[in-house]
Amino acid sequence: MTTTLMINGEQKSVDAPPEMPLLWVLRDILGMTGTKFGCGIAQCGACTVHVDGKPVRSCVLPVSAVRDRAVTTIEGVSASPTGAKVQKAWLDLEVIQCGYCQSGQIMSAAALLAATPNPDDSDIDAAMAGNICRCGTYVRIRAAIKQAASGRQS
Ligand code: FES
Ligand code: FES
Repeated sequence: MTTTLMINGEQKSVDAPPEMPLLWVLRDILGMTGTKFGCGIAQCGACTVHVDGKPVRSCVLPVSAVRDRAVTTIEGVSASPTGAKVQKAWLDLEVIQCGYCQSGQIMSAAALLAATPNPDDSDIDAAMAGNICRCGTYVRIRAAIKQAASGRQS
């Protein structure tokens, strides 16, 4: 079945079963491999993308649910000023270790800052709780979110 999607501001037509998770449409059909597969059951956050600006787990979201909605992936997050600030803070503070979880972390952080420009620790805890990092980069993630929020340069 052909579905038309709006991904990072571009219209894409994909031939996919309606129940296929968005993650597999992104990765296997569109070749957009920045969004990662971790658990496949909405428990790790590696597959986080934005749908209409909200963070969602693309591993459990059928592609039919995002028809006519704006999808943003890690490949497009820097198009927004908030997303660009988050990516810069990640680089400035060298947040990334193995990197596997980090596109999901950045997507959750960018959604947090778009909704709450000056988050406190409890806002950060609530927004980031579903994003697991096996390398334990949580301290740097928190610092990078605070840097992006403040607009401070390192
Ligand atoms: S792969 Fe989607 S939450 Fe883990
Ligand atoms: S940087 Fe390795 S899992 Fe997060």
